[in-house]
Amino acid sequence: MQAMQTAATERYAKCIEVSKRVRWDIDRDVIRGRSFDASKKFLPDGLSKVDTLEFLGRDEKRLVSQIQGRTYSNMFGLVERYIGAKVLEISREHWMGDQTALEALVRFTDEELKHQELFRRLEAMFGPEMPAGYSFMPKPNDVAGAVLSKSTWAVLALTCHIELFTLVHYRQSIEPDAELSELWKDVFLFHMKEESQHAILDELEWQRENAKLTPEQRDAAVSDLIDLVAAVDGILQVQASADTDYFLRVCGRVFDKAQVNQIKDSMLRAYRWQYITSGVQDERFQKVLGGMITETQMKRIGAALAPIVS
Ligand SMILES: [Fe+2]
Ligand SMILES: [Fe+2]
Repeated sequence: MQAMQTAATERYAKCIEVSKRVRWDIDRDVIRGRSFDASKKFLPDGLSKVDTLEFLGRDEKRLVSQIQGRTYSNMFGLVERYIGAKVLEISREHWMGDQTALEALVRFTDEELKHQELFRRLEAMFGPEMPAGYSFMPKPNDVAGAVLSKSTWAVLALTCHIELFTLVHYRQSIEPDAELSELWKDVFLFHMKEESQHAILDELEWQRENAKLTPEQRDAAVSDLIDLVAAVDGILQVQASADTDYFLRVCGRVFDKAQVNQIKDSMLRAYRWQYITSGVQDERFQKVLGGMITETQMKRIGAALAPIVS
């Protein structure tokens, strides 16, 4: 037990060390007086899946990538509201205990507050670059209230999944795409640098929480996680529909019914890939989750995900 505690303290300490080293400032390091280059894409093809819409021209595909890129930025600002609150809440368990763990979680919360400010700044910057009429539907406090009503185990599972897909998206899709707006790309480079530590801390806190649960409590927490994923999917359906309508209003031409349906489908498929599938299929996430739950519980999650990932 003592050895395990020491190993955990070392991991928290490492997160603090890296957090101090990579720490960045919104204006000085990220924005640097720049604006988004609207002649370039925001979200890379690997995430936007826009290539499946063969009837769209180059400019139209770029517009889809910009709409999705704006939503992508807003989605992070959205989830960071509940993540910051949750991390602050669980930090309580370290108040009189491991001060290294406490410091790591305080830095984590501080970084998420900064990220929310960054994403609010970006939303204000997207406005003048893009046609009027975009709206981001979910409200951060409503979503945070719903998420935080679930068990800590499930909330940490969802959070770990989000912070891991942030890393995967940057490394696999954003970094290799040479045609993206430089500012947009930098935002997610800097974001990822701090998210790397968050993913480690999520894992540590999730495992600590897992160790406290009885099998019955864990089974209920699995149900909570399934509910949370369904709630995320509900948000994606609403936003995919809003973003499709916005695209159709501002793209400058009329599509036939079959094409409209294809755009709609592709938008939802892209969002499900971005915010659910790419995270749950991540090897690191699978390994941590698989180490905590039974095969039956894993099957239960798989069945709930089936309609979303297909
Ligand atoms: Fe963040
Ligand atoms: Fe984070």
